[in-house]
Formats: sequence, structure tokens, C-alpha cells
Amino acid sequence: MAKLGPFDVVILGSGPAGYVAAIRAGQLGLKVALVEKDGKYGGTCLHRGCIPTKALLHDAYFYDQIKHASRFGIEIDGYRLNYEGVRKHKDVVVKKLALGVEALLKKNRVQLVVGLGKIKRPGLVSVGNDELEAKNIVLATGSEAKWFPGMEPDGKGILTNIEILEIKEVPKSLAVIGAGAVGIEFASVFQRFGSETTLIELLPQIVPLEDEEVARELERILAKRDMRILTGAKVEAIKPGYEILVARNGKQETVKAEKVLVAVGRKPNTENLGLENTKVRVERGFVKVNGFMQTDDPGIYAVGDILPTPMLAHVGSAEGILAVEHIAGKTVHPINYDRIPSVTYCDPQVAGVGLTEKKAKEKGYAVKCGKFPFVGIGKASIEGENDGFVKVVGESKYGEILGVHILHAHAGEMIAEGVAVLNGELTAEELAHTIHPHPTLSEAVAEATHAYFGQAIHI
Ligand code: NAI
Repeated sequence: MAKLGPFDVVILGSGPAGYVAAIRAGQLGLKVALVEKDGKYGGTCLHRGCIPTKALLHDAYFYDQIKHASRFGIEIDGYRLNYEGVRKHKDVVVKKLALGVEALLKKNRVQLVVGLGKIKRPGLVSVGNDELEAKNIVLATGSEAKWFPGMEPDGKGILTNIEILEIKEVPKSLAVIGAGAVGIEFASVFQRFGSETTLIELLPQIVPLEDEEVARELERILAKRDMRILTGAKVEAIKPGYEILVARNGKQETVKAEKVLVAVGRKPNTENLGLENTKVRVERGFVKVNGFMQTDDPGIYAVGDILPTPMLAHVGSAEGILAVEHIAGKTVHPINYDRIPSVTYCDPQVAGVGLTEKKAKEKGYAVKCGKFPFVGIGKASIEGENDGFVKVVGESKYGEILGVHILHAHAGEMIAEGVAVLNGELTAEELAHTIHPHPTLSEAVAEATHAYFGQAIHI
């Protein structure tokens, strides 16, 4: 047995919450150890989540661009999809970024410890036979896919986000259970690659957390591309041969598919961490923390997907930085979770920040919205990407902007402006007077605020 430390901070888990916390701790001059069971750094986001799926989404988008290149006067003969090459591209990107993360950790003098970390008692973490003395502990152990009885992954036809990344061929047909971010992104990928795709969602709306109008328009666009979408549909069982029994509108339907992706949410990894040896409070599987990411046990912090905050990489990273800055005695401010952007990278993408129209009304605001479609935007026409719109949700008394929602092939690249607008507490008038460059897609954001005043120019 080896005794390591003492460390100022020991971090368990190296996803975007943990590794970013480790780098920031190193920058702050803290003596830091990062414990990772996989022996590779970057977590779900880098190895099984954000990055590989976005590589697939990119390639699916690119494939579609090539398919329709003749609209730009480019004739391409003899192209074909080599799915093995697509997988290789994803793997190369992941490998490159993983090497980068490891190099950054080393550069910041983070001690890397491979193994399963467990709290023996506050101030002491065990990893295999070793013990790490820790003045502070940061839990950043992430989440994993969940499923319900009757839809257990079998490693063959019923898959989670992990196995679907490794399938060798594009399936002839794919059924996706759950139209949240995971489900709709994979549905987008394989529909573009030629799978007959069915999306099954329990709630009446796909991407249920997004603005209703955005979700409705996305559903219309995907249906036009022949994606079969069943909303208000409950999966009752998956029978042999991958026949999915679905209850919908009081009737039972059957969906048959070669592969079934289960994407009905994720659960936090809070078991087997030794939390029973601490005062850390866990509610419905999630760790309770204060605004500085401190648990009920002084010296134990928690960040990322194990908290009941949005399960997003950028949220985890912000929480990780906040935790270690607090440990280092810096002046820090709690995160304002009302201003977190979200991007779902289906095609077209859905990006949003702040309140949806419905949420704003529920909160009692006198809501006024401005909306502008990309059909009126020159750059969108150049790119052949006229689907979608920008919607600005404001209140009518002072014109404060409460939310920005974008549906477009490149929505993710535009939403940061909405975040800055909300952080700056700008009014619709101020945004309307902000000059946007021409010709760019971002003009739609300005035009949506012009529309808020009934003064959109290009419609
Ligand atoms: P989710 O909770 O976002 O969506 C799951 C969906 O499945 C919901 O719409 C739910 O109504 C539906 N559902 C639940 N039970 C069902 C059933 N029996 N039959 C049919 N539908 C059912 O979970 P998801 O998509 O697995 O994502 C997990 C987390 O990871 C989320 O917090 C998500 O935001 C995050 N994530 C974020 C991404 C991004 O930012 N682009 C990408 C992927 C995941």
C-alpha cells in the first residue's frame, strides 16, 4: 500500500467537470490529484458522448451536403458512404482531444491516479491499495444511461449511447426511444445515413425542454425528411425480433427495427463512492450542494452530472472551476442556472438560453415575442439552409429579453450572443440597435428583435 499526498484537492472523475477543475486547481497553485477509473481522461463527453456524436453528426451533415451538391453547381460522381471511415474519423478526433487533455493535465502538474476512487473518510480517498490524503475532495463521477424494465440493452439490437457508437454498419432501420438530446441526435445521424428511422417519445412534444414552437417546427422538418415520429407514445415492451409495442392514443402500435436505441435519460453515478462514510446528502440519487458546490460535509465538493443541475458539459466545467476557486479562497459567485445555453446538435440544431415563451408566461410575465425566419436571411439562402427561425422572448413592460431560441443548421454557433444578451440584461430595444454584420446568419437575431417591435425589415 502506498500513501500519497497530502493533496490540497483530490478530484474523482475526469469528465469536463473533473478535468477542468483539475487544470484550474493546478493554475491556482494547488497540489492536485485526479483519480480516473478508465485510465483515459475526458470522461463521457470526450469518449462516449458530446465529441464522438458530434463527429458523426458532422459527417452525416457533410454526406447530405455532398448528396445535394448539384444545387451549388457541383457535380460529384461516384461518391459513397464508407461507414468504417466515418467511425475512424470519430475515433481519430477523440484520440487527438484525449491526448490534448492528458497533456494539459500534466502541464498543470496534476497527479494522475488510475483506479476507482472511494472515500474512506473525509480527508482520505482509497484507490485500490493506495490511499490519498486530501484536504478537499471534489466528486465529479458523472452519469450513465438509464432504461426501464422491458427495454434493457442486450448488446445486440438494443443499444445505449455507448454501443451505438461502435456499430459496424448503418442499420437498415433504427427505432429511437426518447426524443431528448441523445435520442434526436442519433436519429438525425442515422436518418441522414439512410436508416429508416422512427422516433418514439412519451411526451406530446419532441425535445420537451425546448420552446414549443421550435419543437413543432423541428418535428415538421424531420417528418418531411421521412423520419417517423410518434409522440405521446409509451413503450410497453420490446418483443423478440425487436418488435416494439407502443401504446398511443388509446391504441397499440408495433414498430419493428433492426436496432433500437434507448435514450430515456441518464442517472447520476453516486453509488460505491463511500458516501456512507461522509455527511454528504443524496436525494433521488443526486448530491445536494450549496451555491459554492459544497456538500454537507465540509471539504467535500460535488460538480457535474451528479448534481440536480442541467446535465451539460459546459455546466459541469463551470461548476468544477467554481469549486476549486472556492477551495483556493478566491471570491466566487454562485452560477446563475437561468442563463445556461443548451444546444441539441440534431439537424437542424436547436439552441436556447433563458425562458421559453411558456415558462415566461408561467412565471407571470406579460410576454411579448419577436420571431424571424431564416428564409429572409441572405446568408442562409447562400448556404441553402433556410429552415428554422430565431425567436426572442421578452416582457412587454421594459422590453427585457428573457430568452432566445434558435432553430437552424448552425444554431449552436449563434446562441452565445443570446447568453451575452441575457447576462447583460439587455432590452429588445438595445439588441435591435446592435449592428449585426451582413451577410451573416446572426442577422436573424437582430431581425427577431426588430420583429418584436413589428419592424422586421426583410420579411
Ligand atoms: P433526456 O432526459 O434529455 O430525454 C429523454 C427523453 O425520453 C425525454 O424526452 C422523455 O420524455 C423520453 N422518455 C422517457 N421514458 C420514455 C419511454 N418509456 N418511452 C418513450 N420516451 C420516453 O435524456 P437523454 O436524451 O438521454 O440525455 C441525457 C442528458 O444528457 C440530458 O440532460 C441531456 O441534456 C444531456 N445531453 C446533452 C446533449 C447536448 O447538450 N447536445 C447531448 C446528449 C445528452
